[in-house]
Amino acid sequence: MFKRHALYTLYEDNMISLSSPAKINLFLRILKKRSDGYHELASLFQAIDLSDRLHFTLSQTDKLTCTDNTLPTDQSNLITKAVQLFRRKTNIKDCLNIHLEKNIPQQAGLGGGSSNAATTLWAFNQLCGKPASEGDLAKWGAEIGSDVPFFLSHGTAYCTGRGEQIFPIKPLENINLWIVKPYQGLSTPLVYKTLNVELLPQRNPIEALKNFFDNHSTYFNDLEAPAFTLIPDLFELKSNLLSTGFSTVMMSGSGTSFFCIGEGKIPNLQGIKSYRTRFINRRENVWFNP
Ligand code: C5P
Repeated sequence: MFKRHALYTLYEDNMISLSSPAKINLFLRILKKRSDGYHELASLFQAIDLSDRLHFTLSQTDKLTCTDNTLPTDQSNLITKAVQLFRRKTNIKDCLNIHLEKNIPQQAGLGGGSSNAATTLWAFNQLCGKPASEGDLAKWGAEIGSDVPFFLSHGTAYCTGRGEQIFPIKPLENINLWIVKPYQGLSTPLVYKTLNVELLPQRNPIEALKNFFDNHSTYFNDLEAPAFTLIPDLFELKSNLLSTGFSTVMMSGSGTSFFCIGEGKIPNLQGIKSYRTRFINRRENVWFNP
């Protein structure tokens, strides 16, 4: 029998409502192309409180609805994949009725789809009396996408492999930041395809990680160069944002969103959306709660 937890918004015993946070990559180093087509990376991932909201009800049949009708709700949606994965791994036969309130922009490098999948695994597990551990869910999540395991961490993690190997890091000092998303998006496989690994600066990710704890954080992203090749306007946007006074403007993941830190101002430009946000972490057995 599912037990109520004070931090969940429960309407009935078979229903749960959870937030689904976005992430940024404080630094992202691509190390090499692997023979399986993926790239080996080393990145410091941080969850942020820019979030979707997901409502789950145990049901006789599966159903997925979404506030954003541009988002496919069929088998290609990572939420649907997470539901099927959880049933396969646990032999549980229940179905889920899911409603997604979408706020995280798509094709932004913010991990919205992966976060939704991780949140679904977490919710299904809760609603079924927790047959799986957080570690099981993270391991299973890697079968759906490289970023899914991160969202089952506690919100700050150094990630390696294709992104699915998670080394938890204690929460960083919180900072306020802006996310800026231009209307153009980029597909992750296309950005990786455009990347020339040979041309990348040889930055040491372990040094970069240490810098975060010695209070001289260094931000970089090896996927900026290929993203700027694909959409030159992104470089213009970054320059524009820096010129307003932000100390850091860095693309997140494979883009096209930027995170902006410091005292700058969001310019009044057509075709961009901005979001004020901050880091978010969670405790063991408690979901993200902005
Ligand atoms: O793992 P995920 O399905 O999110 O990856 C989407 C695509 O992004 C992969 O098919 C691959 O083209 C690219 N990718 C990569 N190296 C990674 C992660 C993703 O080349 N580490």
